[in-house]
This record gives sequence, structure tokens and C-alpha cells, in this order.
Amino acid sequence: MAAPPSSRIAIYPGSFDPITNGHLDLISRGSRMVERLIVAVLRNQSKQPWFTVEERLQMLAETVTGYANVELAAFDGLLVDFAQARGAGMILRGIRAVSDYELEWQMALMNRRLRPGIETVFLMAGEEYSFISSHLVKEVAALGGSVAGIVPRAVEERLKRRVAERSR
Ligand code: PNS
Repeated sequence: MAAPPSSRIAIYPGSFDPITNGHLDLISRGSRMVERLIVAVLRNQSKQPWFTVEERLQMLAETVTGYANVELAAFDGLLVDFAQARGAGMILRGIRAVSDYELEWQMALMNRRLRPGIETVFLMAGEEYSFISSHLVKEVAALGGSVAGIVPRAVEERLKRRVAERSR
């Protein structure tokens, strides 16, 4: 049987398509709050991703380095079921602007209804990252703009390659 959820274990879920410096900032700050932080990539999603889950995990592995308590995973199905199975009592999410609030509020309350023992904890995005989203990063990259300083260097290279592949 799975261990009861611990508030010292957190899941940081997302699409990470691709990881940005905003995500990295959250991972860095979140990792200092808990004993274990599990960064979890959602597998089944209706959005059309640019990168496969395996590519996204690879980019995370290349960029999320130097944290002894951060693990990477992929998950299917309900987030709270995955959290429960991993013994995590906390879901970590970042909030950028007010526009993030409504969806995050709905998800947090739905997750609490599904599994009241698991708390969602929000961190405010770092101010220098609060305008960054994976969606905009892809749009700028696709239109030939620079995303230097907004995503990790390794991700910048992969974005360039993906843009070239997609325009073939
Ligand atoms: O990076 P994103 O796209 O904002 O992440 C959204 C994510 C993965 C956190 C959310 O879609 C999710 O938790 N999906 C799993 C399915 C689920 O549990 N749905 C009910 C939550 S209210």
C-alpha cells in the first residue's frame, strides 16, 4: 500500500513544453521548501505539444541539475492519484499574473475535493519571469525571435532545431 501523503514531498506538475527559466526558478525555490520535489510531466494532453514527453524529460534532465532532492517523472490520469501514489502531500504551482488565478483556483479546489489530504501551494513567479510562458516561447521561436535568457541554453538549441523541422 502507498504511504500516506507527506507535506515534505511535493509534486510540481506541468506540461513543460518546453521548460522555461520561469519553471527553473520555481523548481529552485520549491526544492528548498520540501525534502523531495517531484517534477512531473503530464503524458496525455489534448494540447498539441511541440516536444514528446521523452524529449521534455530529457530537456528537464539537462537543465535541472545540482538539486539532490529533485526527481523527474511523467504521469497519466489524475494528478492527485499520482501524488497519492508517490506519497506527496503537496502540489506546487506557480502563479504569474492575475490571469493565471482563475484556472489555478479551479484546479486547486477540484484537486482538494478529489483528495482533501493533498494541499496545493502557490509560489509567485519571480518578477523577471512573470511574463514567460511555454506557449509564448514557442510562438516567438516559430516567428524567428530570440528566446535567449528566457529558456535554458540547451532548450534554445532544441527550439531552433524544432522550428527548422516544423518548417520543412
Ligand atoms: O503546465 P500546465 O499545462 O499548466 O499544467 C497543467 C496540469 C498538468 C497541472 C493539469 O492539466 C493537470 O493536473 N492535469 C492532470 C489531469 C487532472 O488531474 N485533471 C484534474 C485537475 S483539476
